[in-house]
Amino acid sequence: MLYKMKKNLNQKLINLIEYYNLINANFFLSNKPIVRTVTNTTFPSFGTKKEKLDKLKKKIQLIQNCKLKNNAKNLVFSDGNINSKIMIIGEGPGANEDMEGKPFVGRAGKLLDKMLASIKLDRTKVYISNVVNYRPPENRKPTEEEIDRYLPYLKTHIEIINPKILILLGSTALNALVGDEVVISKARGKWIQKKIGEIDTWVIASFHPAFLMRQPEQKKLAWIDLKMIREKSKALKI
Ligand code: URA
Repeated sequence: MLYKMKKNLNQKLINLIEYYNLINANFFLSNKPIVRTVTNTTFPSFGTKKEKLDKLKKKIQLIQNCKLKNNAKNLVFSDGNINSKIMIIGEGPGANEDMEGKPFVGRAGKLLDKMLASIKLDRTKVYISNVVNYRPPENRKPTEEEIDRYLPYLKTHIEIINPKILILLGSTALNALVGDEVVISKARGKWIQKKIGEIDTWVIASFHPAFLMRQPEQKKLAWIDLKMIREKSKALKI
């Protein structure tokens, strides 16, 4: 008799536990607010712009098992003015950038400086970063997997800087941020308004300076893009 009562009680207890698990009772009883938005785990939500950038940089430094990082000498995070309303995104660091830990300091960087100077800009007036923050070996293009890995950090980077104008140099930056279906030769020189994370910005793609060094006859198209950037800056009172 006692044995039968015990057995029934045990079975009831088991049923109750199963029911609790089924309805996720811990969650209902814990009184925690329901998070309805997907949180961007790379986004540091507190602090000044400088502090947020430092936190982001540290997060990138903590990336594990990354071939790019393991082969590189330095993290290449950014250069320029963190308060600028114009942000430029390249592809990834080359040998010189890897050595100095700064984007666009090699030959392509010198050309970029000249292009900026032609519309009265320089590194005190713009902010520069890349799709990937470590040098791809042999200066190859970053792979899709590498781009996907660094993209959340790049988007957070853009959100923190909150530029009014975002300039994408070359197909890697264009495809990473606008989409795989677009090609640089068709998409360059056109403004699109785009939401990146929590921010809205005007985006324009143009040729990468390294490409322009290989195909100087395309510089005339790059010049059209630069003039568009100059006009947009004026219109947006930057
Ligand atoms: N090319 C890039 O895309 N980025 C750099 O920083 C240097 C060369």
